[in-house]
Amino acid sequence: MFKLSDEGVAFVKKELGRYEDKKSAIIPSLFRAQVENKGWVSPEVITHLSQLMDIPESAIDEVATFYTMFNKQPVGKFHVQVCCNISCSMNGGREMADYICKTFDIQDGDISKDGRYTVSRVECLGACDKAPMMQVNDDYHEGLTQEKAVEILRGLK
Ligand code: FES
Repeated sequence: MFKLSDEGVAFVKKELGRYEDKKSAIIPSLFRAQVENKGWVSPEVITHLSQLMDIPESAIDEVATFYTMFNKQPVGKFHVQVCCNISCSMNGGREMADYICKTFDIQDGDISKDGRYTVSRVECLGACDKAPMMQVNDDYHEGLTQEKAVEILRGLK
C-alpha cells in the first residue's frame, strides 16, 4: 500500500492550492509520488493520489500514461534514458543504447539482475548539440561514447 510521506502530502496540498483547476496539480504530484515510490507510478500511487486530491483515478492515470517521464513499470535504481532522436541517432545514440543493454545483459525496459539499471530509448531530451546523450535519473550526461556511457553507469553509487 503506497502512501506519500508527510512532506509529500504537504507538497501535493500546496500544489492543489496553486491552481484554479486542481487537475493542473496532477503532474507535479505524480513527479513527487514517483520519486517516493522508487521511480515508478504503480496503481497504488494512482489510488492514493486520487483520494488525496479528490480527482478520479482515471484522470490521474490518463496523465501518467500520456507522459513518458512517468514510469508505469518498476525501474532499476538507475533509470537510463538514452536519446534516440535524430541528432543523437546520427551521432550513435541507438548503437550506444544497444551497447549499454548488451553490457548489462538487459533488453529495453528490463531491470538488470543486480537491480541497478533499466534502459529506455526516448525522444529528444533537448541537448541535441551535445549528442549523443543520456539522462540517468535526474542527471544529463552529454557528448558520450559507448565506452564513456558504460564507465559512467558503472561508477554510479
Ligand atoms: S536529439 Fe538527442 S537530445 Fe535532441
